[in-house]
Amino acid sequence: MGRGSYEPALAAGLTGPYAHLRQIVFSRSLGVSPDPAVEVTTEDPIALVRRLKQEEGLGIWLRGGADLAGQPLAEIDELIVKQYPVVAGSGSPLFRAAFSPRAFKLAGSRVFDNGCLILTYTKASA
Ligand SMILES: NC(=O)c1ccc[n+]([C@@H]2O[C@H](COP(=O)([O-])OP(=O)(O)OC[C@H]3O[C@@H](n4cnc5c(N)ncnc54)[C@H](OP(=O)(O)O)[C@@H]3O)[C@@H](O)[C@H]2O)c1
Repeated sequence: MGRGSYEPALAAGLTGPYAHLRQIVFSRSLGVSPDPAVEVTTEDPIALVRRLKQEEGLGIWLRGGADLAGQPLAEIDELIVKQYPVVAGSGSPLFRAAFSPRAFKLAGSRVFDNGCLILTYTKASA
């Protein structure tokens, strides 16, 4: 996760918010990790994701803002998008990265009575 996503948990005194997972926080400002179960890294996100993919384990979940999400974009295999029936007028992009369209295919959808959708996309093969 990015430091910005980790910060609310830290502020609440929760140093390991996802204790059931291996936790890695990207930050150049945090320095020493406040929790032995949390690894703080400045490694290039794309290199880290590629390294993690070589290791044994379950999936990799990225929790972060548009900038962090945009950095390892080429390595993202699945998108789970929550869609709400609200028009905000302006807002944050999902990704902030160089313009480079990438195709995904719809792999699953769940529609809720309140108009919310959860859409799962997987990377289309080249
Ligand atoms: N839709 C979702 O599921 C979801 C999930 C999480 C967050 N969000 C949204 O994302 C926003 C949080 O965004 P945020 O902009 O604070 O993003 P963030 O990605 O959580 O954190 C950004 C911070 O991550 C660190 N970072 C990013 N790239 C790095 C790199 N290559 N190496 C080292 N550190 C790196 C930097 O920390 P330092 O400043 O410490 O160097 C940077 O300030 C919130 O608005 C939240 O609502 C959405």
